[in-house]
Formats: sequence, structure tokens, C-alpha cells
Amino acid sequence: MSQTDIVSLQKEGKKFKPSAAFIKHAHLKSAAAYKKLHTESIKQPQKFWTRVSKELHWFKPWTKLHEWREPFAKWFIGGQTNVAYNCLDRHLTSWRRNKAAIIFEGEPGDERVLTYTDLHREVCRFANVLKAHGIKAGDRIMIYMPMVPEAAIAMLACARIGATHTVVFGGFSAQSIIDRLQDSQAKMVITADGGYRRGAVVALKRNVDDALKQATGVEHVIVLKRTGTEVAMQEGRDHWWHEETAKVSAVCPAAKLDSEHPLFILYTSGSTGKPKGVLHTTAGYLAGTYLTTKYVFDIKDEDTFWCTADVGWVTGHSYTVYGALANGATTVMYEGAPNWPEPDRFWRIIAKYKVTILYTAPTAIRAFMRWGDQWPKKHDLASLRLLGTVGEPINPEAWLWYHEHIGQKRCPIVDTWWQTETGSIMITTLPGACFTKPGSAGLPFFGIDPAVVNKEGSELPANVGGFLVVRKPWPSIMRTIHGDPERFKRQYFGEIPNVYFTGDGCRRDKDGYFWIVGRIDDVLNVAGHRIGTAEVESALVSNQKVAEAACVGRPDSLKGQALVAFVTLKSGITATPELKEELRAHVGVQIGPIAKPDDIRFTAALPKTRSGKIMRRLLKEIAGGGDVKGDTTTLEDLSVLVQLKADEE
Ligand code: WTA
Repeated sequence: MSQTDIVSLQKEGKKFKPSAAFIKHAHLKSAAAYKKLHTESIKQPQKFWTRVSKELHWFKPWTKLHEWREPFAKWFIGGQTNVAYNCLDRHLTSWRRNKAAIIFEGEPGDERVLTYTDLHREVCRFANVLKAHGIKAGDRIMIYMPMVPEAAIAMLACARIGATHTVVFGGFSAQSIIDRLQDSQAKMVITADGGYRRGAVVALKRNVDDALKQATGVEHVIVLKRTGTEVAMQEGRDHWWHEETAKVSAVCPAAKLDSEHPLFILYTSGSTGKPKGVLHTTAGYLAGTYLTTKYVFDIKDEDTFWCTADVGWVTGHSYTVYGALANGATTVMYEGAPNWPEPDRFWRIIAKYKVTILYTAPTAIRAFMRWGDQWPKKHDLASLRLLGTVGEPINPEAWLWYHEHIGQKRCPIVDTWWQTETGSIMITTLPGACFTKPGSAGLPFFGIDPAVVNKEGSELPANVGGFLVVRKPWPSIMRTIHGDPERFKRQYFGEIPNVYFTGDGCRRDKDGYFWIVGRIDDVLNVAGHRIGTAEVESALVSNQKVAEAACVGRPDSLKGQALVAFVTLKSGITATPELKEELRAHVGVQIGPIAKPDDIRFTAALPKTRSGKIMRRLLKEIAGGGDVKGDTTTLEDLSVLVQLKADEE
């Protein structure tokens, strides 16, 4: 996409200021205070991060703040720490030892509360289970679990002994597990017999079994009994969580790990068919998630924080688990769907546990809007004091609905822009300090120096659309793509010299507020989930009947973007409505239900340039139902376009 195509459609409306009541108790109370700290973090990073790092626990203090050998960053060099120690042990020496760490509600309505002491004990036990199965620091472990406390326990147990976890979202298919196992070379899989979703059981263990028929290298599978569903257990390989934890001690000292020790790999979509294993390490990631949770969510000991993201996504990693626990907060985990058994499940949970901070996604907010305000109205939401959103630009209508019906005009909203790659929140408005503008993520967080630039890397004037880049490395930046440092360099530092390239289009307004337009590469944001069009295309062409496929996004009022696939069939194959369903199901098996195209359009040919490149831009215009306005002079065969338009009508 060229820079001139980046136009932000969000119109600027009213500004919203935090109330005096909110400011009174906020960590940061004024724009001046924000500006002062931000300036210090950029101009005197040593001073700023030294102070922050004193709020964390170190086995050995770091000696050098950072090193930047583009594209590779290191932070808190020479230090030794442990993320699980910071999330757990650190709180056991104070009254927090019996504070609720995790409040859990399962979809069927079961409840559990784990205090910091409980969570520490369970993590230590499970860490000993890992050790008993030969897991050592540096080994990779796959976690494929429902949203239950054991998912967090497994992550923290890995962190405790220095094993590197790779969490795979429970909605992904067996094929996705195979790809990720092969890439990460994991030795162990931690899963459950199943998890609840919309009243049904998701067969997690069965997917693992299917995957392990093909993937090699996995020596042990630990299975949590969650649903009681019957599962096959392979002698010697598969072990029950409850039996293993009963055999081991609850004492397990946290390993003293180097600041740059790999903490986790999380796979995310890029612009090729192969998901990227984004690698995050120990101290920088901890500092980033700790500090953003503290300031962006204005966390206090009295808060009950609910980040609704699944641990399979980075938001679940950074805010449900690590950021929340590093701050000694109470974090809520809910297993199931927002509309199960009825569309008021979220509001019921908020009223029941007196949630004070809610962090969710625009796509969820738009669904709530659609279901109607009668649902939140039925519940007492007076405990809420702060709201957040993440995952895609929020349209001002949804922002205002969230503000009025959920925040009851009392709660500031933080619209947080960040990525799997950035590890923690990068752009937002600190809730007691800055005004918000619906539709704009806001201002840079401490230590973050973003800019909107053109292809050559020159900064653009206010309100001119361009590419969002970050000029300085920050503590929680991804360190590399697991096993592919070249791709890391090419993708994030190859486009524009000397800066981190986000892949997002953006403009910055006169107040310095950033307005994110969305992805400029072939990555879609469907219902807040990142989906690479190339992944879906390669899933489609892996079907025998498909000759070629091109996927594009079309604006969707609920999901943000919907996925439209243009498909040409092999000769002799007839296009039928049943075949559409078959192909959708095929993508579901190859990747997971979230990647199923919303719409499949069969076509005789795809529009291509003379060099054979599919012109997705034209398809995008057709999928969006509009006229084809763009330049078509490079199109090899104009009749293809005429045919595509005719197919549509
Ligand atoms: C988009 C999720 C606008 C953006 C944490 C980014 C957003 C991609 C926002 C990363 C926001 C995320 N406003 N767009 N507040 N937050 N995005 O890796 O396009 O799943 O590049 O990380 O989501 O998605 P990811």
C-alpha cells in the first residue's frame, strides 16, 4: 500500500476529561505529570528505568541498561531475575499473601478463588512436575488449555524454572498445533480433557492426540481433568495433572535467570502463510507489563481487574497473567462465551465480583451494543471505575456506547494500541492525566518514541497519514522470530531504516494524538484476532478442489473486518453452495474456526498484474461492494474484472 492510501476516516469529536473523583486517587493526576515522566523516560532512560526496576525483585542487579545492535535489543544486561518470583513470592512477605490473586468463574458457573499463597503453592508443585519429567531451563513447552487457573499456573511454572512456554489458543485446530510444535520443538504439551464453550465441550486433548500422530519430539503430555470427558491416555506419554501434582513437593525455588532468558514464544499472523514465533524474554517484558499495568490501568490494591482476553493471545499473557500479578492485583478469569447462557454474562460477573477495571475488545463491545442495553441495565455496575479496549481501532459509536452504558459516564476509557511484538501497551491515554478522544488511541507510553513517517522514513506533518514506526527500542520489544532472525530483521527493520516498523497506518493530530488506521500489510483484524490472508489462502489451496485463492478484508460492523475469499476451482469441479460450506469447514480444520471465511466467492479467474501478482486491492474494492476506483492499468486481463463485478450482481 502506498502512503497516500492511508486516510484515517475517524472524524474528531468531543474530548473527554477524567472526573475530579477519578483524578483524586489516580497514580498520575495531570497532563504535566505525564509529560514530565515521558520526557524523562526518553531523554534520561537510565534514570527512569533505574527507578522502575527498583520496584521489581532482582537476584542480581543489572549493570547496563540496554544494548541496541539493530535489530537486536537487550535490556537490563547482567541482571538476574525471575518473572514468577516477581508475580508471586514478592507478595508473600506482605499482607497480600492472603489476597485473592485469581478469581475464576467457569462457564457452567463453578467458582474458585486462589490467594497469592495458594497460587504460589500450585505453581511450585507444577514446576516440580515439570522437573520430574526432565524439563530444564530453555526447553519449550506447549500450553493448549481452556481459560482456567491451571493455564496461568502452567505458564508461571514454566517461568519459575526457565522453561519457555508457547501458548496456543484453544480455538486453534490440530493442524495449527502440528505447525507450532514443529517450529518450537516443544518437548511437552500441557492440555485438558476439554473446556466449556457455549455449553459444549471443546475436545482439546483429542486435538492434541491428532496432532501427535504427525508431530515428533513431544515426550510427555500433562492432562488437566476439567470436563470429565472421556479421553484416550497413552501409557508412558500421557499423565493426569492431579495425579502428578499429588506426587511432588510444594517447595520449588525460583531459578535465577538472566535478564534475556527466553520467557515465551507466541505465534502470530504475518503477511506470509507461516505464523511467526514472537520471542519475548525475561526482565524487559516484566518491566513493560508491570509498568503499563500500573499506570494505564491505574492499578491499586483495592482493584479487581478483569482483562477478558484468552491466555492464547498476547493480551491474556501480558494483562490477565503477568502484568496483573506482577502488581499484586486481583485478576479475574472467565472460561466461556460472553453470551452464555444469556447476553448478560459479563455484566453478571462484574456485579458478582465487584470488578473495578474492565479491559475488553471493540468487537465484543459492538456485539454487546447489538444485543441491547437491557442486558447491562439488569446489573449493578457501580463497582467499575475504569474501562479499556484493545485489538483494533474502536469506532466512536462503540466508544460512546461503552462510555454511557457500561462506564455510566463515570469511567475513563483507555484505548490501548500495541501488538504481540511490542509485548506491552505502547500508545494510550493515562486515565487520570490525559483527556481522551473517541477513536484515537492517544499518546505514547513511557519510554516509547513513535512517529508517523513516509516510506523514506521522514516524519510527516500533523494529520497526514503514513506509517507508524517506533524510533527507540523499549524494554518489552520482541527479541526475534524464533528460528528466523532474518525474517525478523526484514519484516520489522527492513522497510524503513533505523526504526521499528509496526505494519500499521496512522496519523498524528495537532495535539500529538495517534489515530491508528489499521494494518497496511496483508494481515486482517477479524473480531480482534490477527489473521494473515496468506494463511487462509494456503489453507484453501490445500483443498483438492481449489486451484487458486485470494483473501481480502471487507469492513464489517460487528467484527471490524470480515474475511472474503475469492476462489477459482480446478477444472471439472462445479461451484455449489455445499462446496462453499465444505471449504469453510476445511479452513476450520486447517487453522481453526476463527479463520473461516465469512464469504466465499467462486470466480473463473483472479485479477492479476502482468507479472502474475494477484491485485488484492481490486478484490478489496469488489468485496467492499464499492466501485473499482483504483488504477487498473497494470491489470493483465481487464475482462476478469468485468466478470468479477458481474458475479457479484
Ligand atoms: C491492531 C493485540 C487500533 C493493530 C494487542 C496492531 C489496534 C494489531 C489497537 C496487533 C488499538 C491493536 N487501536 N488498532 N487500540 N490495538 N490494534 O498482535 O493493527 O493481536 O498492529 O496484538 O492490532 O494485534 P495483536
